[in-house]
Amino acid sequence: TEIQNLISEKKKEWVGKRIKVRGWVHRLRDQGAGLLFLILRDGTGYIQVVLAGKLAENYDALMIKTETTIKIYGKIAEDQRAPSGVELQADYFKIIGTSSGEYESIFNEKSNVDVMLDNKHLVLRGSRTSAILKMRSVATQSFREHYFHRGYFEVTPPTLVQTQVEGGSTLFKLDYYGEDAFLTQSSQLYLETVIPSLGNVFCIMPSYRAEKQKTRRHLSEFTHIEAECPFIKFEDLLNIIEDLVCDTIQRILDSPFFPTLMKELNPDLKVPKRPFKRLDYKDAIKFCNDHGIKKDDEGNTFEIGDDITEKPEREMTDMINEPILLIKFPAKMKAFYMSRCKDDSTLTESVDLLVPGVGEIVGGSMRIHDYKELQDAYSANDLDSTPYYWYTDQRKFGTSPHGGYGLGLDRFLQWILKVDHIRDVVLYPRMMGRCKP
Ligand code: 4AD
Ligand code: MG
Repeated sequence: TEIQNLISEKKKEWVGKRIKVRGWVHRLRDQGAGLLFLILRDGTGYIQVVLAGKLAENYDALMIKTETTIKIYGKIAEDQRAPSGVELQADYFKIIGTSSGEYESIFNEKSNVDVMLDNKHLVLRGSRTSAILKMRSVATQSFREHYFHRGYFEVTPPTLVQTQVEGGSTLFKLDYYGEDAFLTQSSQLYLETVIPSLGNVFCIMPSYRAEKQKTRRHLSEFTHIEAECPFIKFEDLLNIIEDLVCDTIQRILDSPFFPTLMKELNPDLKVPKRPFKRLDYKDAIKFCNDHGIKKDDEGNTFEIGDDITEKPEREMTDMINEPILLIKFPAKMKAFYMSRCKDDSTLTESVDLLVPGVGEIVGGSMRIHDYKELQDAYSANDLDSTPYYWYTDQRKFGTSPHGGYGLGLDRFLQWILKVDHIRDVVLYPRMMGRCKP
């Protein structure tokens, strides 16, 4: 019998069976005296294999190195010392692909960050990185299941665009058959156009930002989970974001992969308690000033209208130490499309979700749905409305109040997996100064 899934917790049930496995030599220990131990990795999990006697001493056995690809037949026996409680006692093996034993000299635990990133194509074979990549898959599936369970449709908007969403300063510009085009910063404006056709919609797409700063949480290319909902009010939007985060975490906790993969990451993950703390932007400014959190490295205090940047935002979130819905930012500091608060037109119906250890992981708002108001917003933001004709049309043909949000999958993972730097939750991170492998 061939074993399909080495990650299985039921390895004990295989005891006494002869099986075939194929995979890569993850670890290798030559005990001498005709005894060769290896940990075989096949992408689904790991199993200890022992080659004994002639099998460990023949010419082919000398060719087994770390990362050699190999096919092994043998019997499963119980062994308390083996990591999974069983070992495979080989009676036959065949090398499928050799490995140059240099693997370990390329990088090790002491290598610097750039060496690790240059060799990510090899680093990703390690147990921690593969656990992170698998949890990323589990989380992506959990988000999709959340949306499908709530009746959303998924769409795939283009990432080559001719309009900015989140300000001109972080646009990647490119030549599009002689015309100017950009890599999209957000699929939001397209999602908005789809709600009269599909109702509640979401997408999971890459977004791009030419971030000129190096921080623990900024990428040039990130995975953006965005949704848009018609006929909601601001308070509904806040509840929708809470529901997204809590329900998705519950689905992740319920995944059969969770116990094994999270063992070395964050086994104590819990669903945050609802409702999340709501904090007005102006009260956050006051909180920072009251608690000695400075605006910048020069030690300046905050004034209304200041952006709460990465460092103070994290200091505040870590001090409060629970998820915070930071709401009602001044219109001056926010994007053109955000609708104003009914009781104070200098403020927007906007929200950022901040979480301990990371800071902002979600940004959302209600959208201007009045035609005239949108025209004013274009002018107030010095935007030429011409390329936005399709966005404007939505306010001409049956407009509706609506709102939505974008969640950074990478930052979400940083939070729930307790990974210090965002680059470590991404397959091949793109950041200032890095566009390889
Ligand atoms: O707050 P942002 O800029 O909001 C928007 O783009 C809205 N148009 C989304 C919407 O309403 N549909 O970005 C949303 C989220 C942030 O909270 C953050 O999690 C993530 O996207 N994000 C980044 N993640 C990694 N690296 C970057 N450079 C990011 N910029 C934004
Ligand atoms: Mg934001």
